[in-house]
Amino acid sequence: MTNLLITGGAGFIGSHTALVLLEAGHRLVVLDSYANSSPEALRRVAELAGPGAAARLQLIEGDIRSEHDLERAFAACSALGGKPADAVIHFAGLKAVGESVAEPLRYWDVNLSGSRQLVGAMQAHGCRTLVFSSSATLYGYPETVPIPETATIAPINPYGHSKAAVEQLLADMAASEPGWRIARLRYFNPVGAHPSGRIGEDPCGIPNNLFPFVSQVAVGRREQLQIFGGDWPTPDGSGVRDYIHVMDLAEGHRAALDVLLAEGPQLLTLNLGSGQGHSVLEVAAAFEAASGRPVPLKIVERRPGDAAITVADPSQAAQRLGWRTSRGLADMCRDGWAWQSANPDGYEA
Ligand code: NAD
Ligand code: UFG
Repeated sequence: MTNLLITGGAGFIGSHTALVLLEAGHRLVVLDSYANSSPEALRRVAELAGPGAAARLQLIEGDIRSEHDLERAFAACSALGGKPADAVIHFAGLKAVGESVAEPLRYWDVNLSGSRQLVGAMQAHGCRTLVFSSSATLYGYPETVPIPETATIAPINPYGHSKAAVEQLLADMAASEPGWRIARLRYFNPVGAHPSGRIGEDPCGIPNNLFPFVSQVAVGRREQLQIFGGDWPTPDGSGVRDYIHVMDLAEGHRAALDVLLAEGPQLLTLNLGSGQGHSVLEVAAAFEAASGRPVPLKIVERRPGDAAITVADPSQAAQRLGWRTSRGLADMCRDGWAWQSANPDGYEA
């Protein structure tokens, strides 16, 4: 049984991954400030994971930028498992592209300084195994699609710059001393929810991202979906993305952790995506089919900073982790709808 510290584990991807890791028998300490999440998510995770799981899950409310809070989290890990943390999975961070343009200092502070603080605490505690949430946003406007990990790193907003900087910090750590086992996982577009509908994505305010927006239109919380551009060089003129079911993504984390713990020190850099692209119009139609509700839509101007098509080349993840996605767009919509329809106002209802 391994002892894991999960930063940001109450969030969308963190909560689904926490469930998969509890089900795999691990002990977890979650460090989260609840800046963009609710402790209710983890209460439900413990419930879904079944009898006895709650005893293997401990929550620490705190900030990754605080040395004191990190000390509390590492101490909780030792207390929970009787040994220091075996690995850290680092989800905590800020992720809204538009907000990052308006508030770059906050993004550099939480994403870069927070990660730097965490890595320092890991070093102090002799923990050198880390899985990091990176993003396809690093590729900016991709030169080739599907995008391999060797594509140029050229982020186009402060959020992307902060992720690129953390990736570089981790590469520098891996080169600085032997022993580091690091996975930098570049997610494409995580969507959907656990099939139970008990946990899911609960964005604050008006969603920036397509999926939560579409599901809020279907449930009647918003009137209409605006499609950002109908004249992209794509088959139907709307933007194409590589959507990945959050449960596939959670399983990808478990696979990455297993490889790091089983193999020697290394720096893994992997795309986590499906390799399949879907357009905005396809997503809206699939959501209508899954929910049985209309999704009224209107084509408007392109959103600044968008690319026409981003799709992963996921072959490296398949080769190194033996992992690939198994859920399609209909599953993403079905499970997203199960969550949205049972929790129309999210966790705080
Ligand atoms: P999320 O906002 O749901 O989860 C992030 C969690 O981190 C939240 O629970 C939040 O409360 C917590 N947090 C934020 N600042 C903190 C701090 N200073 N100290 C402690 N906790 C803090 O986001 P998510 O979608 O689950 O994303 C998780 C990670 O994956 C993020 O690092 C994000 O940048 C990355 N990522 C997300 C996407 C996506 O589309 N969702 C895509 C690529 C990469
Ligand atoms: N879109 C709309 N209407 C909306 C929202 C989005 O038409 O109301 C379109 C966008 O133009 C794009 C597609 O839907 O073509 C997907 O947009 P999202 O905002 O859901 O996702 P992005 O691909 O723009 O970006 C997301 C995250 C980034 C992350 C990236 C890759 O917001 O942080 O996926 O992982 F880096």
